[in-house]
Amino acid sequence: MTKINVNKDTCIGCGTCVAIASNTFDMNSENKAEVKKVDGDDKETIKTAAESCPVNAISIEEDK
Ligand code: F3S
Repeated sequence: MTKINVNKDTCIGCGTCVAIASNTFDMNSENKAEVKKVDGDDKETIKTAAESCPVNAISIEEDK
């Protein structure tokens, strides 16, 4: 099971992750991203979203 973590202290609420992987990330009421569904989008999309975060707030932990 893959784990996705959003560091809410680091997140500046830019929303890129939500724009790219809208089935996985959502903005909460504090304008920070949170994971709504770990497997909401395919792996590549989630990876792209994480890599697109300007402050690298998203980490993906894959156990194989
Ligand atoms: Fe926050 Fe980065 Fe998403 S700043 S809203 S985690 S793209």
